[in-house]
Amino acid sequence: MARAQEKYVCQACGATTAKWAGKCDACGEWNSMVEEAPVSAPPGSMGAAPTNSLRKASAKGNVIDFAAMAGAIKASKRYESGLSEFDRVVGGGLVPGSVTLVGGDPGIGKSTLLMQACAALTAKGHETIYISGEEALEQLRLRALRLGLQDSTVKLATETNMRDILTTLDNGESETPAVVVIDSIQTMWSDTITASPGTVSQVRACAQELIRFAKKRNCAVFIVGHVTKDGQIAGPRVVEHMVDTVLYFEGERSDRFRVLRGVKNRFGATDEIGVFEMRDSGLQEVHNPSALFLDSRGKNVSGAAVFAGVEGTRPVLVEIQALVAPSTLGTPRRAVVGWESSRLAMVLAVLDARCGLGIGAQDVYLNVAGGLKIREPAADLAVAAALISSMAETPLPPDSVIFGEISLSGAVRHVAQTDARLKEAAKLGFTEALLPASKTDLKLNLRLNEVEVLGDLVRQLWQDRTTS
Ligand code: TYD
Ligand code: MG
Repeated sequence: MARAQEKYVCQACGATTAKWAGKCDACGEWNSMVEEAPVSAPPGSMGAAPTNSLRKASAKGNVIDFAAMAGAIKASKRYESGLSEFDRVVGGGLVPGSVTLVGGDPGIGKSTLLMQACAALTAKGHETIYISGEEALEQLRLRALRLGLQDSTVKLATETNMRDILTTLDNGESETPAVVVIDSIQTMWSDTITASPGTVSQVRACAQELIRFAKKRNCAVFIVGHVTKDGQIAGPRVVEHMVDTVLYFEGERSDRFRVLRGVKNRFGATDEIGVFEMRDSGLQEVHNPSALFLDSRGKNVSGAAVFAGVEGTRPVLVEIQALVAPSTLGTPRRAVVGWESSRLAMVLAVLDARCGLGIGAQDVYLNVAGGLKIREPAADLAVAAALISSMAETPLPPDSVIFGEISLSGAVRHVAQTDARLKEAAKLGFTEALLPASKTDLKLNLRLNEVEVLGDLVRQLWQDRTTS
């Protein structure tokens, strides 16, 4: 028998070549080409291409028109778990037949989140099965015990073979569960492919089989995917574009807050976030995230400003802390965590040159709380406000967020996504925003305090100082 031609697959983007290369031509990643055997689907296996022609399908009544489909979509109910932070991110409940990828760092809490979601869905009467390829049944039970879910009727299973999983789920005898969780896609393997589990080919083949199953049986499927250290799920783009919804579960492991973020959703908005707190007894929903994000934020403390930022497509509020102290050194100290020092130098220079603040000779410490790294120029105004506030020993207005870019002339410039920032601030319970002059049609419960030049902010804070 002729030897099947080997191919090389980029583990970062899924591109294939016949010859090995040190660098992927498609995405530019180095050392990502791995030899994987091509797909050889045995006849009748789940990997085989569907043989039904459209004509046959229509004869069997499998072809539906759009009008009928629209009706079906309207009629189809979403499965709500009752965990509102979770339901909101998936677009107001799970859509039957949808496939959702949940990505995140190993150990961030994906399994915990999905087990809790399964329990909540089961409690709402949606039959759920959680299939783990990572942990033994006993470990799953221990986790359930820890989460206080010992009385839940979620079905737990351990299996890594896709064929076994799908034959069990789709045997036509017992009823297909409403929700299936596959934890994780990297541990699953399909026997239609010889590549080892976790490779792009396997991840893609397993995801394809799961998607086919989900659509066929109208079952909502969750696929867990670990993110590698460069921020990508192994076999990433291939799975991301195949599934209906992509969610990321993020946070610092050392920190207790976790954010579930929608980055793609065929059935809902993507700018939703769900916030959880990791406790000893599992994830606790945080309905008012400002309480957690900005938890240790001292109100009425000088030198602290809440920056309304945007990370990718998602608005993020974060506290910026500054300390300005008289220097005893010839060259004053500058210590920055979470922001660019060159950008800080610029803001300090503008404060000196345009506002006559005399800050250049002082020691300056700047910290972005929560370990977040900010790259946006929109943080300029928040940084400046924190600096001025520290120097003036005057707190900024309580419950205010700040954003805006500062130009070398000291003017405060308009930044992108003003509406998203304001919406997030209003959502998180803030009542005032200091921002560049902007045109916004939003009707929010926010007092908008437009700052045209940096000098205005300096004067405002100094005035507060003398009047308080
Ligand atoms: P896990 O859900 O296993 O992460 P993932 O599936 O993303 O790899 O979560 C693991 C971490 O969460 C682990 O470090 C312990 C912590 N944890 C808690 O703090 N409380 C809990 O109730 C549970 C179950 C886990
Ligand atoms: Mg896990």
